[in-house]
Amino acid sequence: MNSTVEVPRGLAGVVVTETQLGDVRGREGFYHYRQYSAVELAASRSFEDVWRLMFRGALPEDVTERAAFAAEVAPLRHLPAEVREALPALADATALSGPLAGLRTALSLLGASAGFRPVYDVDPERRAADALAACAAVPTLLTALHRLGQGLEPVDPRDDLPYAANYLYMLSGQVPEPAKARAVEQYLISTIDHGFNASTFTARVIASTGADVAACLTGAIGALSGPLHGGAPSRALDTLDAIGTADRIDPWIRERVLAGDRIMGFGHPVYRTEDPRSRMLRGIAREFGGPLVDFAVEVERQVEEILAELKPGRELHTNVEFYAGVVMELCGLPREMFTPTFCAARVVGWSANVLEQAADSKIIRPAARYSGPTPPEPVPAFG
Ligand SMILES: CC(C)(COP(=O)(O)OP(=O)(O)OC[C@H]1O[C@@H](n2cnc3c(N)ncnc32)[C@H](O)[C@@H]1OP(=O)(O)O)[C@@H](O)C(=O)NCCC(=O)NCCS
Repeated sequence: MNSTVEVPRGLAGVVVTETQLGDVRGREGFYHYRQYSAVELAASRSFEDVWRLMFRGALPEDVTERAAFAAEVAPLRHLPAEVREALPALADATALSGPLAGLRTALSLLGASAGFRPVYDVDPERRAADALAACAAVPTLLTALHRLGQGLEPVDPRDDLPYAANYLYMLSGQVPEPAKARAVEQYLISTIDHGFNASTFTARVIASTGADVAACLTGAIGALSGPLHGGAPSRALDTLDAIGTADRIDPWIRERVLAGDRIMGFGHPVYRTEDPRSRMLRGIAREFGGPLVDFAVEVERQVEEILAELKPGRELHTNVEFYAGVVMELCGLPREMFTPTFCAARVVGWSANVLEQAADSKIIRPAARYSGPTPPEPVPAFG
């Protein structure tokens, strides 16, 4: 007899596995990586430190441990020749859809050319080595695809620069100002993981089949690319542009909300209080200052007031997308690279989840309730 259990649509709130990687507490406005507050990690640690925490279970305890992990991952930024040579054609073919679409193919190629093996067939050390290689290559692939799409030559990675500074360097060809590199690093750290979101779940479903790390990550990138997940950080900034000036905020927002539209960068499926990433990124944006930041702060103030009036009791505040867009714009990232930049961080979280899932031999295989015509009907004769 088949036994089935009914769960809420979209699996909302359904616990499907255990994890030691982290969690989100929506009512408290708090999320964590392992036992540490993610926001505190972003404030005080490097990207590589947190990467090590996610992969190896502990932060580096001293400068030697920190330097050892950084020195282990930096050389993995360089792409194998067969992948590098394929990128111009890939950038051409994905000119309309952008670097994230190209990344899916490039990562598959990287995995195949580097000999990634199904996680089912290899030991934990080999799985972790494949995941490390994939994560380290993602920023190089994304920035090369972006530059090729702009008619520019890719910029080779530099092993002497930290993760975020090297990312900005490969994007523009210039070593970034320390304040900008640090702001992007903090954003990247805050984006590494965020509970059992759709792309993380996707990565784990694929890992549960025993497929290789590149297959898991490629599927996760596909999930992230959707507008309901990671595909929208530039839209909040587009909203600021569309409003234009402070005197237009009130009428612009009211008209949209009364028409039933959603204001981009506000509301969250889990947080019922301020998104802690939004609070952190607002602080970073304020340190830079300038007209864009002043305008964003004023838009936030008025939109929260209007939403509280027109949608009473819904607790609608800014989400990560609102100030992430502002910070990335201030740091010179092109809007086309907003979601890819999100991906350059989240790939570390996906990989840690893949490694955790690979240690569990149970395949994730839920059920669906069949709602079509009652079977079995006779198959119609043909001819
Ligand atoms: C993120 C989001 C999908 C969360 O949705 P959710 O928690 O399922 O929210 P609900 O769909 O339950 O909405 C609750 C109410 O608030 C309203 N609401 C939610 N977000 C809103 C927004 N950004 N602007 C205006 N109204 C909003 C809904 O219309 C709904 O109103 P109703 O009860 O009168 O129908 C939603 O807030 C949204 O679309 N935000 C804008 C897009 C965005 O910023 N995405 C990035 C997410 S990180």
